[in-house]
Amino acid sequence: MFQTLAGFRDFYPDDCAFRNFIFERFRQSATTFGFEEYDAPILESMELFTAKSGEEIVSQLFSFEDKGGRPVAMRPEMTPSLARMVGARASTLKRPIKWFSISEMFRYERPQKGRLRSFYQFNADIFGNESSYADAEIILLGIHMLRSFGLTVEDFSVRLSDRQLWTLFIRSHNIGEDDVPEVLRIIDKIEREELSKTLESLNKICKSNGQKIFDDLLEIRTIHSVNDIRAFFKKIENDAFARRIDELAQLLARIKAFGVSDFVTIDFSIVRGLAYYTGFVFEIFERSGQSRALAGGGRYDDLIKRLGYADLPAVGFAIGDVALGNLLKGRNIVPKLSKNIHCFVVYSTQTETLALRQATILREQKINTDYCLDQATFSKQLKMAAQVNAKYAIIFGEEEAKTGHVKVKDMSSTSEIVVEIDRLVEAIYR
Ligand code: HAM
Repeated sequence: MFQTLAGFRDFYPDDCAFRNFIFERFRQSATTFGFEEYDAPILESMELFTAKSGEEIVSQLFSFEDKGGRPVAMRPEMTPSLARMVGARASTLKRPIKWFSISEMFRYERPQKGRLRSFYQFNADIFGNESSYADAEIILLGIHMLRSFGLTVEDFSVRLSDRQLWTLFIRSHNIGEDDVPEVLRIIDKIEREELSKTLESLNKICKSNGQKIFDDLLEIRTIHSVNDIRAFFKKIENDAFARRIDELAQLLARIKAFGVSDFVTIDFSIVRGLAYYTGFVFEIFERSGQSRALAGGGRYDDLIKRLGYADLPAVGFAIGDVALGNLLKGRNIVPKLSKNIHCFVVYSTQTETLALRQATILREQKINTDYCLDQATFSKQLKMAAQVNAKYAIIFGEEEAKTGHVKVKDMSSTSEIVVEIDRLVEAIYR
């Protein structure tokens, strides 16, 4: 017997209906916000990710050599491919470029609640705008999208942080530029690791400053307001901090102006595992804090340039289907996703030709129509109509058929009307 590989899923029709429901809401929110859809190959040159995604994702790559001996990888994320696509046409694309995609990703992670090895991601990114309007727009879209599923401020929160502030902090402790990414990585891991391990790693890389950085780190993680972060960094005489905190305050003011500030909290424990972020970063979590992040993103102004293209600022986020799906099911807010059959045609041997011709006419008019594939009694056919959740049973009885009529039974009530066959479509759309 064969089973799916660990962390991969079969999608039975019910699962597909649920997936489509999620995708439709994703797509609807993105188009409402003026984003256009794109796609890219699932298989990419491995170097695209080894060079651009950061150590953690690279260790999770599904990679192999193709028949021509080229190292290739199944995409673990969309951002490097997207940056390549936008970079290649940067001079001709109208700005701001607002694009979204819904696509399958692959990461060799330990399968656990909310994390699999194959999953879908919705990505939305804006290129060509460096103001915090673009950061706000991305955060707003994330909030709008989750709300479109019926989730509320009780269910989730956006934890907002800033890579630039962290970078300034690290530099202010005389850490060499080359070591900044490693310190960011240590900070990123702090919630998932023993504190003693964090201190050990910091001591290794920051030498005598390790303990000081560690103590500051613990304090910064508890700060949740602009005023407190301003007060904290006052001790470090550096204008760059003050300017950056003003920018953070401006972003928060924009979010407030859109009326969604209840959804957003400052949380400097968010650093993001991916290497390319350069500015504000955020993750969206279930309020209960139970599961892994629902979504994550931020600003990455250097990536396109580092791929060898133009200097194009960028900000975006991605949300996966796994943790979100668990949350929606747990909250019991998934609508009934039944087969959407409008008409179920019921016939006898005598009326079969007429009925099935009519079924074809309905289908040609894009009306979802089904019928029983075997000869069966009327009551059995009506049972099937109920099973597939048909809205109407169109009953071709012999008596009615003689005068060019048909019975239309509303399956949600006991009401039944007799109409002329020629007026059937009119009757079911009254
Ligand atoms: P990420 O934080 O790696 O960001 O992934 C974003 C979301 O994808 C996660 O919050 C989670 O919902 C989902 N996800 C990630 N890994 C898994 C997994 N193994 N199983 C199930 N779901 C998963 C990125 O990928 C960035 N490229 C996002 C971005 C777009 N930044 C800018 N633009």
